[in-house]
Amino acid sequence: MPSDKNNKIPFNEDNYTHNIERDNERKLDRRGFMKTLVGAAGVFAISSLPWGAIAAKELMGLGEKEYPHKKITDVSGLAIGDAVEFKFPGDHDDAILIRLSETKYVAYQNACTHLRCPVFWVKEEGEMICPCHHGKFDVETGAPTAGPPRRPLPEIQVKVENGAVYAVRVKRYEV
Ligand code: FES
Repeated sequence: MPSDKNNKIPFNEDNYTHNIERDNERKLDRRGFMKTLVGAAGVFAISSLPWGAIAAKELMGLGEKEYPHKKITDVSGLAIGDAVEFKFPGDHDDAILIRLSETKYVAYQNACTHLRCPVFWVKEEGEMICPCHHGKFDVETGAPTAGPPRRPLPEIQVKVENGAVYAVRVKRYEV
C-alpha cells in the first residue's frame, strides 16, 4: 500500500516536533545571551568601580603616607647649597636632601621619573639633573623643566628637630 505521507500537510510528526525543539533552542539561546550580558556587566562593574576609586585617591595626592621618622643628617653637617643622599622610606628607595637656605630644606625621591636613573643636585646650575637623557627638575618643586621626564619627582617632607633633619612622609606626585 503506498504511503499517504505526501498527501498530508503538515506531516504529523515532523513539523510539530521540529517546532518544539526550535522554541527550546531559542529559549536557551536567549537565556545564555542574558547570562553573558549580566556576566559582562558584573565584570565591568568590578573592574571599574573599586579600583577606579583607589586609583583616583592615589592620583589626587591623598596617597600621602607618613613613615617612622628617619634622621638624614645633623644641621651642622650640611652647608647651605649642599646636598646629601639618603634612603627613604625603604632601604632601597634612593632620596636626596638639599639645603637651600638657613632654614629651607627640600627632599625628593631621586629616581628620575623618565626611566629611573639617579638624579643629582648640580649646585652651579641650581637644578636637579638626570644624566641619562638630559632631564632636569626644578629644585623648589621637583617639577620637570627639561628633557623627557613628564612627572615631578615625588617629594619627601622633612622637619628639623633638635639640630637634625628628619624625613617624615612621602608626598605622591599630582597630575
Ligand atoms: S632617565 Fe632621566 S631623563 Fe631619561
